[in-house]
Amino acid sequence: MSTQVATSSENFLHQHGPEAWAQTLADLLPSIHEVDRHATQIWFAFFPLALLRALEQSPDPEKLAQALLLQGNYFLKDQIDSSHKFLYGHRSWPAVKQAVAEFAGTGATPVGAQSLDRAIRDVTARVAAQTGVEESLVVGITAVAFMTLQQVGAEAFKAAPGTIHIDAKHARKSAAQVLKERARDDGQGLFGFLRTTDKKWTVVFDENDESRRFKMVQMQEIASGAATDHRDWHTLDARCTVNEGPIPVQCRSASCGTCWVGVLGGADNLTEVGKRERRQMPDFGYIHTDEPRPLIRLACQAQGTGPVSIVIPPWNGVFGKYLRNAHDASPDSGNIDAKNSDAPNFSE
Ligand code: FES
Repeated sequence: MSTQVATSSENFLHQHGPEAWAQTLADLLPSIHEVDRHATQIWFAFFPLALLRALEQSPDPEKLAQALLLQGNYFLKDQIDSSHKFLYGHRSWPAVKQAVAEFAGTGATPVGAQSLDRAIRDVTARVAAQTGVEESLVVGITAVAFMTLQQVGAEAFKAAPGTIHIDAKHARKSAAQVLKERARDDGQGLFGFLRTTDKKWTVVFDENDESRRFKMVQMQEIASGAATDHRDWHTLDARCTVNEGPIPVQCRSASCGTCWVGVLGGADNLTEVGKRERRQMPDFGYIHTDEPRPLIRLACQAQGTGPVSIVIPPWNGVFGKYLRNAHDASPDSGNIDAKNSDAPNFSE
């Protein structure tokens, strides 16, 4: 962690824990453009504040990371400019980053009087006025920038170059174009209407790169479709098994949590969450919801009935049960039994 003295802006942010952030995100969602509504929620699921805090507060973060089976790149500090490149609002990152860096440098400004929601909306309005981009396209990426600032600290945040990580051709696409491409149904050829079980659907796993897609057969799991892509993904992401495609997998039976993905578009083109996926997701820590087709799925369980656009997170782990136990054992929880218990229990 940075040894720099925290500014009042940072102190303001640090007053906001996971629950306050969840409420703020829920309040902001209706103001976020459709193109980024799912993407913003997925980003917040990919970079949970509670997990970072657990690592920071641990006397031995490396040991804890091993216990939680964390693999890949789970620290935002290593990807300040790039973690959100799947948001449409990434195109506004340079201006948003600069405005949030200014917020972080406000020093003695009495920002403590503002709500988090208000602070995010103020910066959004300023960036929109300055760039001419509509506010709804900026609010999601601004929320992401505030959370990034909170997790990495002002020093690292300001030091990041603030560059865009998509090429000029894709950066030029309008939000309407991106939504249209997401909603495009795969043609099944001239006699597609005759096809039943052998329909093939496109899975896009990077909307800003035409080469990042593979096919899955009707009712095939996303991860099985990915395994037909034999390009060298292992070199790009060591978690990927050689010849098993771009989605990291280990068990293929909802046991390891390696294969989690965010669903940007086409969530309804996946089968409903089954019993096992439902039971495991909260223990992995990825999502806790009763929705039949949520935005975070296990790729080895979700089967395709149409095209989808997904995002592959840069890391995976099993931390849900640990965070639940840690929360129950905290002095504020009022849970006497948990407070008196020993280390987190992974065996339940
Ligand atoms: S590969 Fe293990 S949960 Fe999907």
